[in-house]
Amino acid sequence: MIGREALNGHVVIVTGATGGMGRVIALEFARDGAHVVTVARDPSRANTLHAQIENLPGRGTLEVVAGDLSTRAGIVAATQTIRARHESIRVLVNNAGAHFPDHRLSTDGIEMHIAVDYLPAYGMMTLLQNELRRGRARVVNVVSDTLRDTRKIKLFGSARPPEIRIENLDDLSQLNSVRGFVPFQAYARAKLLTVMAGYSLAREWAADGITINAVHPGIVATDIIDVLIPAALRPLRTLIRRTMLTPEQGAAATLRLATDPALQDVTGRYFVRESDTPTPPISYDPASQQRLRESSDRLFR
Ligand SMILES: NC(=O)c1ccc[n+]([C@@H]2O[C@H](COP(=O)([O-])OP(=O)(O)OC[C@H]3O[C@@H](n4cnc5c(N)ncnc54)[C@H](OP(=O)(O)O)[C@@H]3O)[C@@H](O)[C@H]2O)c1
Repeated sequence: MIGREALNGHVVIVTGATGGMGRVIALEFARDGAHVVTVARDPSRANTLHAQIENLPGRGTLEVVAGDLSTRAGIVAATQTIRARHESIRVLVNNAGAHFPDHRLSTDGIEMHIAVDYLPAYGMMTLLQNELRRGRARVVNVVSDTLRDTRKIKLFGSARPPEIRIENLDDLSQLNSVRGFVPFQAYARAKLLTVMAGYSLAREWAADGITINAVHPGIVATDIIDVLIPAALRPLRTLIRRTMLTPEQGAAATLRLATDPALQDVTGRYFVRESDTPTPPISYDPASQQRLRESSDRLFR
């Protein structure tokens, strides 16, 4: 049983809470009296959230841990800080994410979508596993339905999930390589990896009372969308944004997975908003999951 009232005084972690849906999710948890921890590459960008939480009538609090989640060092340092300060974690929302218009490498030599849209979620789950276990935590990974279909226009033909070459799972630097790089597919591939690793960890940790689910929040008017709008349509940005969900509407699906008592035993699932939805076959393949986990663990060792 979790329920929103039960978060009072508990530690919940929300990455990417400086804006967009993350800020709404963090604010809602604080409204329920939680101690919200976020990781931000520029802590001053959490000032608005800080002020909003301070003005709430409840007892919710905010702690900002400085950290750039696109680097191994940033993920390791952030999780070390969290471990030193907190014994147990009740909820972890891996929400931080980004889309890049071209091929870029992180300081670890890893393509940026893998570095931002997959590795932080994996690192937060595995490096904080003892604290998650003590809190019998719910983990929600915010992904994108591009992991089922990378077509931008879906009028004709069938869904086109991102391709994953199984042999590339052994070496993170081979994922989203520069040859044949397509930004939207690279983003989708990183989200699919997050789901894949989540399924495997969910199975392994179910007996400890940890649940791990993934969610597509809908198409939501946030900063990430501006990067995705083609240049020719940018003058219509305000109009286009009006056709999308608000950050509050988008955040609702994540909040439900994190708190709804009816979902307390639900784990290892992917939801398109509120609908339990199957993902591409490779995501369920235990051998592929294992190869991905081994190469990811090697990075954090
Ligand atoms: N909007 C949509 O339609 C949509 C659809 C499907 C999935 N999603 C997913 O929803 C999640 C939330 O995105 P959003 O739509 O709310 O977009 P957003 O407003 O751009 O928020 C992204 C958040 O991630 C943080 N972030 C990015 N790179 C980071 C890094 N290297 N280290 C630490 N934090 C970093 C950003 O912090 P800074 O302040 O430092 O930039 C920001 O707080 C993402 O995972 C996204 O992929 C969004």
